[in-house]
Amino acid sequence: MDFDSFRRLVMSDRTVRRFQEDRKVSLDTLENLVELTRYCPSGRNAQPLRYVIVTEDAERAEVFPLLKWAGYFTDWDGPESGERPTAYLVQCLDTKYGKDCLCDDGLQLEAITLGMHTLGLAGCIIKAFNHVRLAEVLKLDERYVPRYVLALGYPAEDVRIEDMTGDENADFKYYRTSDGVHHVPKRPLEELIIKK
Ligand SMILES: Cc1cc2nc3c(=O)[nH]c(=O)nc-3n(C[C@H](O)[C@H](O)[C@H](O)COP(=O)(O)O)c2cc1C
Repeated sequence: MDFDSFRRLVMSDRTVRRFQEDRKVSLDTLENLVELTRYCPSGRNAQPLRYVIVTEDAERAEVFPLLKWAGYFTDWDGPESGERPTAYLVQCLDTKYGKDCLCDDGLQLEAITLGMHTLGLAGCIIKAFNHVRLAEVLKLDERYVPRYVLALGYPAEDVRIEDMTGDENADFKYYRTSDGVHHVPKRPLEELIIKK
């Protein structure tokens, strides 16, 4: 793969919160996505992250209400029935290997979401969820602490990047227009480099 193709992959790999709920993701695919994490960098190479794969309807129905969707959208409680994620990957820290995973969590989530994108899948990394209830619902042994929920499925939403102006007070909140398109402002390169 050349740099331009990789750049296009990263650019088009956007967060999606509405899905084609009638199109399931196979367990094989989900396992293949988790397998990608084997090759991710890991602080101390401790590799302390584990995954719970949620696909069953009854379990999905228990997980969904524990998640907080799009905090900036105060009048939207998340995807309606019919547009909900068809699977969840719940990333957990195995505390046997310590109380911190440094940035392993984010690195793995990016590998998974990029992999999803190559398969026509999309999703939403979720940190705002009821951690205690989720551990209960998933019947997790207490050594496993949920860190993130990755909600995924086949996308049913158009998401576009909007270039921010470079004014450091410009609004970075994502927004949705009346045509249903989700817009994500991104800062310009000049703002990211402090000095060169
Ligand atoms: C660490 C992290 C936590 C996030 N938590 C949530 C969340 O709890 N709920 C949600 O709807 N989106 C969540 N998101 C998604 C972000 O809102 C999204 O990445 C951001 O709006 C930028 O959109 P993009 O991913 O398309 O670039 C999270 C993303 C990250 C990286």
